[in-house]
Amino acid sequence: MTFKIHHANSFDWLSSAAPNSFHGVLTDPPFGIVEFTPEEITKLRSGNKGGVWRIPPKIGGSERAPLPRFTTLSASEREHVRTYFRCFGEILYPTLVPGAHVFVAGTPMLQYLVQDGMAQAGFTVRGAVMRLYRGFRGGDRPKLAEKEFPEVCVTPRGNYEPWMLFRKPISEKTVAENLRRWGTGALRRMSVDTPLPDIIQSGKTPAEEMRIGDHPTMKPQHFLRILSRTLLPTGFGVILDPFAGSGSTIAACEAIGYESIGVESDDCHFNKMHKNITKLSSLYPDFKGHSKELTLC
Ligand SMILES: C[S@@+](CC[C@H](N)C(=O)[O-])C[C@H]1O[C@@H](n2cnc3c(N)ncnc32)[C@H](O)[C@@H]1O
Repeated sequence: MTFKIHHANSFDWLSSAAPNSFHGVLTDPPFGIVEFTPEEITKLRSGNKGGVWRIPPKIGGSERAPLPRFTTLSASEREHVRTYFRCFGEILYPTLVPGAHVFVAGTPMLQYLVQDGMAQAGFTVRGAVMRLYRGFRGGDRPKLAEKEFPEVCVTPRGNYEPWMLFRKPISEKTVAENLRRWGTGALRRMSVDTPLPDIIQSGKTPAEEMRIGDHPTMKPQHFLRILSRTLLPTGFGVILDPFAGSGSTIAACEAIGYESIGVESDDCHFNKMHKNITKLSSLYPDFKGHSKELTLC
């Protein structure tokens, strides 16, 4: 076993972590801020539909899992997202070795706020990897005027999720020197001939993984193993997920053979996490994130 998990608020936990502890971060944070507050989680778990969690329309008669709807955020809540990521970035920064990369999952509408907050904290914005999947956000006709405007959609139907990429500046003169000193500063290729692409066809999280993880925003092993693997260009180091949820990132690292640390504040998710990691990491034993293709069998 090469992972550790901590039941804590990651802001508190990070503030006492030693400098230069982590070589990469892969995380899917509560970027809407309100969706993981105790009030919103109580509404979600009690089936109350009044909050930020919404059930997308049925497709082909089948029920969809609830998704957080970020168009409910007010201007000041949106500003709070920017501040949240500046504070998160500032507290994370000293714990990373120079040249460490950070992947942060987001949504297209809030991406600019996350990037701005992280840039203010000192990180360099390095683009994003798009996870392509069949989304259910957006694409709606104008509310209460659907029949009047049948050919109109208010926003495009979302079919990608940006995983924003940041890098703590390198401390050495060149990337090569940084790689030699810290093992970071660049990304691991899929193979010698294939760099990491910035678009990955992903699909939704398989039902078997959802059954194990039982988390409303759980991400697929296929995608997480690709991103985890690329974070350690020399194969050496420790990956952190400060908002670990079901433990899916830690399971991806475990499957690859990377050392990792997860932090989760919610009692319910934390209590199941160790078991989840064992089960999720044993799925697809031949898939270590080194190709885009995963055969589900
Ligand atoms: C979007 S979910 C992550 C889901 C994860 N990617 C997965 O596949 O299971 C964010 C998680 O962060 C947790 N969380 C929110 N604020 C936190 C904090 N300050 N410290 C630690 N965990 C936190 C929530 O309880 C939630 O489980």
